[in-house]
Amino acid sequence: MKISVVGTGYVGLVTGACLAEMGNDVICADNNLVKIENLKKGILPIWEPGLDEIVHRNYSDGRLSFTTDIGYAVLHSGIIFIAVGTPPDEDGSADLQYVLAVASEIALYMNEYKIIVDKSTVPVGTADIVAQVINKGLAERSFEVDFDVVSNPEFLKEGAAVEDFMKPDRVIIGTKSDKSAKVMRDLYAPFCTSSDRIIAMSIRSAEMTKYAANAMLATKISFINEIALLCEKLGADVSEVRNGIGSDSRIGYKFIYPGVGYGGSCFPKDVQALIQMAHQTEVDAKVLLAVEDRNNSQKRVLFDKVVTRFGSDLSGMRFAIWGLSFKPQTDDMREAPSRVIINLLLCAGAEIKVYDPVAMPEAKKVLTPSSAIEFFENQYDALEQVDALLLITEWHQFRNPDFTKMKSAMKSPIIFDGRNQYQPKMLRGVGFEYFSIGRN
Ligand SMILES: NC(=O)c1ccc[n+]([C@@H]2O[C@H](COP(=O)([O-])OP(=O)(O)OC[C@H]3O[C@@H](n4cnc5c(N)ncnc54)[C@H](O)[C@@H]3O)[C@@H](O)[C@H]2O)c1
Repeated sequence: MKISVVGTGYVGLVTGACLAEMGNDVICADNNLVKIENLKKGILPIWEPGLDEIVHRNYSDGRLSFTTDIGYAVLHSGIIFIAVGTPPDEDGSADLQYVLAVASEIALYMNEYKIIVDKSTVPVGTADIVAQVINKGLAERSFEVDFDVVSNPEFLKEGAAVEDFMKPDRVIIGTKSDKSAKVMRDLYAPFCTSSDRIIAMSIRSAEMTKYAANAMLATKISFINEIALLCEKLGADVSEVRNGIGSDSRIGYKFIYPGVGYGGSCFPKDVQALIQMAHQTEVDAKVLLAVEDRNNSQKRVLFDKVVTRFGSDLSGMRFAIWGLSFKPQTDDMREAPSRVIINLLLCAGAEIKVYDPVAMPEAKKVLTPSSAIEFFENQYDALEQVDALLLITEWHQFRNPDFTKMKSAMKSPIIFDGRNQYQPKMLRGVGFEYFSIGRN
């Protein structure tokens, strides 16, 4: 099939590369010239396991191409994915300006029947707006042509994006036309050979499914974080509690790890956007508001433990940070809890030594420039003469570090573990003062 993907970011690039991998001809279009020129040279804008390989292979085989010419992409494809960002507007609602700008451009160049696929996460009712914008554009050209707008939200996880796209748990297709439903089923069939995981539904249900999924996962995280705080106060251990409740098949073990709060490009903005949808429809979003509120407080929890231990004036003190990205296996720093924690430490007068296996280039772009932040290429070098270590992102390489080496590098052997990576008893046994989430 001939496909174009407009917006070559996280979702667009993965979508384009994986569709090309199945033999389709894919044009990835983006209005960011630098990004497109880099992709043509083989330089990817994101770090994502396995993505390099399939982008390079499909580009050199000629199934995947890159352009800034959206018109060319529209003219040469029957299916056009819109995969641009939908960042939060000032009030938290999803900003649709990029999606609608692409819809206008599609209308400028549409020459025959096309399927326009909303891949971006968009509020319920957006497909109707996209159709209106395209109809308006066609009317301005005095050109009549049939088209369908389909909702096909993306559920990939950063850090496992390629795997998730190639072997999806489900493919949601929201459409009201049999013709587009069949084309979309055919397109996704190669990704669902072991079992049929394609779920067709109404467009509005498909749009809502994406938000409901992310809000559910965010709710689980905020829930366990609140239970962790209670465990600390009441002398229980949240790891034991997690095991206890996770064994119930109705609950499960996933997404009930306590930590320093959720971040990334999706959960925070999607929960906010859903709250705004509730607001606009006069639904009192009590649960969603609480989920967001808990998460905002949770991002401070590790810092509050530092203050309890050292006092509120941290001037002259040095802290090491292990892990910057919002989760392991990605360099994405969007809404990362590390940003909040680092700002709080800096405001309290501390100096910071940071290490992350892949996210430091991104971190340098987004952290407020400060002479009090030093970046290190080695996790142990970042520990030299620090008063304590804060573990924020649970990269594998932090799971079983050389504690003797750590202890001899640090000024004082104190660890604030935001991801419960170590056993308190063991760490105390080897001479560390150890603080974690919901276990002390
Ligand atoms: N990142 C994720 O893990 C993830 C997962 C599922 C869904 N989503 C959703 O997918 C959408 C895209 O997210 P992302 O993380 O890929 O965003 P991104 O910021 O990484 O990429 C968006 C791309 O769109 C391009 N763009 C913007 N306006 C354009 C225009 N008019 N024409 C051409 N290109 C344009 C930008 O230059 C950028 O490269 C969002 O709605 C997001 O919520 C993201």
